[in-house]
Amino acid sequence: MQHIQSYIEDHKDRFLNELIDLLKIPSVSADPAYKEHVFKTAEVIKASLLKAGCDHVEICETEGFPIVYGEKIIDANLPTVLVYGHYDVQPADPLELWDSPPYEPVIKKTDIHPEGAIFARGACDDKGQMYMHVKAMEFMTETNQLPCNVKFMIEGEEEVGSVNLSKFVKNNQEKLKNDVILISDTGMIAQDVPSITTGLRGLSYVEVEVTGPNRDLHSGLYGGAVANPINILTKMIASLHDDNNHITIPGFYDKVEELSEAERAEMAKAPFSLDDYKKALDIDAVYGEKGYTTNERNSIRPTLDVNGIWGGYIGEGAKTVIASKAFAKISMRLVPHQDWEEITDLFKTHFESIAPAGVKVKVKPHHGGQGYVTPIDSIGYQAASKAYHDTFGKNPIPQRSGGSIPIVSLFEQELKSKTILMGFGLNSDAIHSPNEHFGVWNYFKGIETIPLFYKYFTELSQS
Ligand code: BES
Ligand code: MN
Ligand code: MN
Repeated sequence: MQHIQSYIEDHKDRFLNELIDLLKIPSVSADPAYKEHVFKTAEVIKASLLKAGCDHVEICETEGFPIVYGEKIIDANLPTVLVYGHYDVQPADPLELWDSPPYEPVIKKTDIHPEGAIFARGACDDKGQMYMHVKAMEFMTETNQLPCNVKFMIEGEEEVGSVNLSKFVKNNQEKLKNDVILISDTGMIAQDVPSITTGLRGLSYVEVEVTGPNRDLHSGLYGGAVANPINILTKMIASLHDDNNHITIPGFYDKVEELSEAERAEMAKAPFSLDDYKKALDIDAVYGEKGYTTNERNSIRPTLDVNGIWGGYIGEGAKTVIASKAFAKISMRLVPHQDWEEITDLFKTHFESIAPAGVKVKVKPHHGGQGYVTPIDSIGYQAASKAYHDTFGKNPIPQRSGGSIPIVSLFEQELKSKTILMGFGLNSDAIHSPNEHFGVWNYFKGIETIPLFYKYFTELSQS
């Protein structure tokens, strides 16, 4: 494509400043205190899509936060790319661990990002990556190089489970009709190792409550004579893994897809340094399921993790007490073929069955979603691969990710189209963590690569 690099060069500062303005709005979908800001962000996205050359943009109200829909249809005979992204962000807590305020973006250099990285909540997940698509669109329309039809669907509830988007997709199949779905909401292996995400894990998220005595008790007067819910809960949780770190829930692995030795050998070719991995996290050893490598453990294998646990006295000093209740939030990452609702049921049945007499257990399911895998011989993958080859000078590596974007499997089910995951973030960009950032180089590289995807996808679709 002509002039993409010079176009970026000419508009560099504006591209950065527009993203910075977007990052200043705290669009936290999980916390009702930020409601106004989330709605405001939808307006800003709408304006940006109009400016980028969409002919028609609307804010589609839902029972929750709106979906911003935009399109430019140039010829019904040409293919249509549907771009998905999200404008909501995770809560910024714990605030005290940020080196600069989460909604006051600053650009700072890091070892991995010598050109600088934008530090702000949502910089990488997903405002920065979503906005690359808006700027790529601007480039294509401004220079008359848009080769096909485009639809944008940017939602505000990804971080809370995309419940309203699921309904929207089911009810708007004709409107959302497309030939391929394009998303930048994942990562790549390293700056010099471009990769395309070919798999996402599913998710089942539950909250558990263990109740012992009907009130908090003096731990001297009653200790040793009644079940302590915190002791019991931790023991129950510990029993969910065996000595080999296999999950002990009966039936949990029944539908897990086992990869062939050949597929595992192919995966193992991706560059990876265990030493660097440990160093980056300041750990002296990795930990996980016996018989699998680190990269297998975090992508093709299902897992169970406690995300939060509470109960009893956690204030200053010591209080001698046996709490009446203990709680935990638990997530299970799932692999293709495991059904999240079925796994949630298996968890519930098992967890209730291992509770000893003397406590009551409640399991409350939260959201969830199915995993996803996509083949590398599709036109979409080939187009993405060629695009990366042009801008990185080498072929990208297919990589299965451990994260989840549950809506992707619903897209396949309802819209019958494949999703191509062109992520430009790095694992070290600290998404969902304090000091989230996104490399300035990555941002521009994304803007440079995306238009080439459109070009090759259109060419390959017509050949
Ligand atoms: N963008 C992430 C998912 C992601 C990140 C996938 C990096 C692959 C690589 C997304 O916003 C996210 O955080 N998803 C949640 C699930 C959702 C239901 C809250 C997740 O994976 O925890
Ligand atoms: Mn995301
Ligand atoms: Mn996220």
